[in-house]
Amino acid sequence: MNSLLILGIVLAAIIIASFWWRDASRRRSLPCPTWLASMLDSRWSDALLGTQATLDHIGLQPGQRVLEIGPGPGRLLIPAAKRVLPGGEVVGLDIQPGMIERLKARAAQAGVSNLTTILGDATQPNVLPESVDVIFLCTVLGEIPDREAALLQCYTALKPGGILSITEIFPDPHYQSRATVQRLAESAGFRLQAIHGPWYFFTANFVKA
Ligand SMILES: C[S@@+](CC[C@H](N)C(=O)[O-])C[C@H]1O[C@@H](n2cnc3c(N)ncnc32)[C@H](O)[C@@H]1O
Repeated sequence: MNSLLILGIVLAAIIIASFWWRDASRRRSLPCPTWLASMLDSRWSDALLGTQATLDHIGLQPGQRVLEIGPGPGRLLIPAAKRVLPGGEVVGLDIQPGMIERLKARAAQAGVSNLTTILGDATQPNVLPESVDVIFLCTVLGEIPDREAALLQCYTALKPGGILSITEIFPDPHYQSRATVQRLAESAGFRLQAIHGPWYFFTANFVKA
């Protein structure tokens, strides 16, 4: 077998597995496994996944109270914690204990002290109503089987005028289009504020009216 054929078979297997994962995630929770976290916090991930551009598009300000749903190992949440200083704080809510442990370890290593974590599900976040200025999700929405319920919880947790920010990156297997993100957010009661970036790497910001 020549190497081109092997490469083709591997690529086809990855594509089939991605489609299966995307489809199965509609019915049950199949989050990005903890062993894949090293792809999110490697030294190339910031450049490849546009970490600083995403944070710019979310538009964080000093003093804000910010919640990230599905922070994983904290690629975005750790620099976000620095951006909301002085006076601000960030909270990371993730469904997997392994991700929370990795996030805590990386935050401690980075000397970040205004970051706390919640182990839980986006559909039952255990966050006080109207207690958060900004909620953001990056490559997470499609991993949540009941996306409508999760966005309703975001609406409840945000202060009036608060911002919901959703970033999607293609070819994440769980990628959600701009139209889908807008439809889901508007169904939960949000109003579109702005969409930054092209279809394959966009951040959509919504306001709680
Ligand atoms: C692909 S990773 C993205 C990590 C991070 N947002 C980033 O962009 O680097 C998806 C994360 O969402 C979390 N997640 C998936 N479903 C969730 C749910 N229902 N509630 C909370 N977190 C969830 C996973 O455990 C994982 O850490």
